[in-house]
Amino acid sequence: MPKWLNDAVFYEIYPQSFYDSNGDGIGDINGIIEKLDYVKGLGCNAIWLNPVYDSPFMDAGYDVRDYYKVAERYGTNDDLVRLFEAAHKKDIKILLDLVPGHTSDTHPWFQVAKRAKESELSNRYIFTKTVWDAPPEYRMMCGICERNGNYMVNYFSSQPALNYGFYEITHPEWQLPCDHPDCLRTAEAIKAVMRFWLDKGADGFRVDMADSLVKNDDEKIATAKIWRGVREMLDAEYPEAAMVSEWCNPDRAITNAGFHMDFYLDHYGNGYSRLFRFGEWGDLAVFNKNGMGDLKGFAEEYLPAYNRTKDNGYISFMTNNHDMPRVTAYLDKQAIKLVNAFIFTMPGVPFLYYGDELGMRYQADLISKEGGFSRTGSRTPMQWCEGKNLGFSTSDFPYLPVDMSDDAPTVENQKEDPDSIYRVVTDMIALRHKYDDLHGNGELEFIYKDDEIPFAYRRGSLMMFFNPLDKEAEIETDSDGDVVYKIGDAIIEEGKVKLQPQSFLMIHTI
Ligand code: GLC
Ligand code: CA
Repeated sequence: MPKWLNDAVFYEIYPQSFYDSNGDGIGDINGIIEKLDYVKGLGCNAIWLNPVYDSPFMDAGYDVRDYYKVAERYGTNDDLVRLFEAAHKKDIKILLDLVPGHTSDTHPWFQVAKRAKESELSNRYIFTKTVWDAPPEYRMMCGICERNGNYMVNYFSSQPALNYGFYEITHPEWQLPCDHPDCLRTAEAIKAVMRFWLDKGADGFRVDMADSLVKNDDEKIATAKIWRGVREMLDAEYPEAAMVSEWCNPDRAITNAGFHMDFYLDHYGNGYSRLFRFGEWGDLAVFNKNGMGDLKGFAEEYLPAYNRTKDNGYISFMTNNHDMPRVTAYLDKQAIKLVNAFIFTMPGVPFLYYGDELGMRYQADLISKEGGFSRTGSRTPMQWCEGKNLGFSTSDFPYLPVDMSDDAPTVENQKEDPDSIYRVVTDMIALRHKYDDLHGNGELEFIYKDDEIPFAYRRGSLMMFFNPLDKEAEIETDSDGDVVYKIGDAIIEEGKVKLQPQSFLMIHTI
């Protein structure tokens, strides 16, 4: 287990929207290098960079055309190496995004595999025996290539699934077992990609759709086996490298598959959305001031998973990512401050999505860009300062428009505002670094009563009390100590914490 993870706080950078250094309207790698001090200033010591590989951008770069080459619009491979070096000088780690489940249909492997002529790449993707064969239980593209067969897609139609084999074989004419040499070669090809970038200085990977490799593998037994193989490679060759999975099932991702971290997301109905996004635009979220949230639902789902996985890895809370509406679409400013107090004081390794520290808004009405669809509104350019494109780019044609509203938050105006979300985020991250008890593997004792909000938790010597409600609340406690941090108004006296509406109190117990 790489030690650095225990005190890691990640910043997710969506490269096309972060900072445009050469005025062509698209964010780029040199732009990220220029802004590393900003990232450092937030207290983040690690970055997750969304895909920067060559791609036709039908899915924002999750449709990879060349795993070994940085997309021209972002710069060159040398620029990326310079980013690794510049980041390392500032003690910042960088995880790249690894997309192992599929490629773009323009990838050279696919260009060869879809030909009628057989080759050593014929089994790199999943083709049926003939075009007349299209079992409805699979998502297939039918009759569109020279080869007499249909192929399976993993996400959008332009993303054919790579072939890691089938765990249960239901159509032996075309399904290969996982131990077929060609399927094993697919995994080796992905490992080669990992080695290439790790050798160049990357610190690991965020793994896209990590559970999607082997088909007909409901319990993810064979998929987990592949990842354990990858983990063995890392342990032996790159022991400081880290992997975080987009799996959203920590038992499987951490315990079975050997990931160091797994995102806590709202796939598979786990507890994440209960906290921040449940119901029609957040009306059933725990942090909604209306008090209709299902805290128990969250706690009963999260705590057992946390207890089962905490010795082997970290569950990662995130403020948001590039796939979901920003939390500003669900909760008011005060609630978002509490959300940040929560995310940065819980166990695991937290992730901050670019712009969430400003309370950037979800831009609901944008036309889809590069396969974003409803996600486009969370992918708009970073808002740096007053002026053209809010400092993102000097171009007249930025890749996406910035927030046009008069009161759009920017780094410049939020830094000066003592009442900002930015202030809470940076304060909480600083406290997390300061107290060992707030690090990733510090203890957690969660305190709540059945259907009741407020709630509290202890992390070693620190106690956190939350009142998300729009009315006063009290929590009885036998702890006492010094106030470390407050959001809103709260006091502790005579065995009671008195919390004003939408407030938070952190104490250091004695
Ligand atoms: C993941 C990514 C998402 C992408 C999809 C297909 O969910 O986060 O952005 O579209 O996988 O690669
Ligand atoms: Ca640019």
